[in-house]
Amino acid sequence: MDSFLRRKWRGYNARDPMSLLKQSTRQVVSPKVVCIEDLRSIAEHRVPRAVFDYLDGGAEGEVTLRENCRSFQEVSFRPRHAVDVPQCDLRTRVLGFDLALPAMLAPVGYSRLMHPGGEVAAARAAGKAGTAYILSTISGHRLEDVKAASSGPVFYQLYLLGGRGAAEAAIDRARQAGFSALFVTIDTAVSGLRERDIRNGMKELISGGVLQKVPYLWQILSRPGWLLSFLLDGGMPPLPNVVIPDQGPMPLVDVNAALASSTVTWQDLRWIREHWRGPMVVKGVLTGEDARRSIDEGAAAVVVSNHGGRQLDCVPASLRVLPEIAAAVNGQIEVLMDGGIRRGTDIVKALCMGARAVLCGRAYAYGLAAAGEAGVSRALEILRVDLERSLKLLGCPSVGALDRTYVSLPRDWQT
Ligand code: GLV
Repeated sequence: MDSFLRRKWRGYNARDPMSLLKQSTRQVVSPKVVCIEDLRSIAEHRVPRAVFDYLDGGAEGEVTLRENCRSFQEVSFRPRHAVDVPQCDLRTRVLGFDLALPAMLAPVGYSRLMHPGGEVAAARAAGKAGTAYILSTISGHRLEDVKAASSGPVFYQLYLLGGRGAAEAAIDRARQAGFSALFVTIDTAVSGLRERDIRNGMKELISGGVLQKVPYLWQILSRPGWLLSFLLDGGMPPLPNVVIPDQGPMPLVDVNAALASSTVTWQDLRWIREHWRGPMVVKGVLTGEDARRSIDEGAAAVVVSNHGGRQLDCVPASLRVLPEIAAAVNGQIEVLMDGGIRRGTDIVKALCMGARAVLCGRAYAYGLAAAGEAGVSRALEILRVDLERSLKLLGCPSVGALDRTYVSLPRDWQT
């Protein structure tokens, strides 16, 4: 085994099995990785198909998943040339926190399956880059450890997994640990149909018996590097932040089962807000009406989001509905958005159209799956450098100065 590993991974050291993980760091430097798509390719070859497709895939025909990215291509720039911009100010302020760049790390479920560092590694990279990390309820690391890893702001994303008692316990722990805002996701009345997950046997692999797993094991065996790091990490972790009263941490279940019984209603937002007492953000808003309702329920911000095309398929791209929501909110609360961000120019377009900042999910999770913390840092660096270059090419000195005059929208978007 040892000589096989040494042949396959130059630099593998039997006395330090984690050298396998450190080695992957070298894979994400330029010129091997110049854009987010390069991180995606590395991730695809490093993790089992079921894990990659969970991260990469969307619901049903993946129409919304594709539209999220395509919509950015429909918006063009109106640059101001012959303008010297020696310094660009990328800073913004979200929920009272100064961020070094207008992109935060979105909640991504099962991050610890993508890499053992999981949520801890992503939060550390976010802090080092001067931005915020949002921890998913479906996480493999304790929320206290995630908070401790980051030097920046950390927010908690809430699902009602395990019922109200489990949610209240998580809210209390998040407050005590120093989380600064609660992101409540409202678009998961049931889980979207992720066809790739069904084909790959995600449910069987995560919570099935040995015999049920057998037809799907080839995916795992064909990724020995990932398998080794997964085993060294202790195998399948329970959900340490979903502690059901009198039962303990919820075992890791497939996302369909997990989300099916955790609908959040507007009535729930009341008790959640009263229990939390800090800033509450409503994530999953796609209409002006839901944005207004969020304001009425006391939200400090909304996230214009279709859950990365993972829930109801054929809803519009987030960018497409951003102007409607920005108009409905009319400056009363902050507007954030996610969905389809792969380049700095995408962030610039979202800001021009009314977002204060964006949430990146897949863009950094590909980096995490490719190389752990180093991959997340590389993703953030790519976006930061992109942003700076794009502002200079646009002739705009700061992200705060971006507005609709820098972009041109398709005619049918205006209505
Ligand atoms: C969880 O939030 C998921 O979309 O898989």
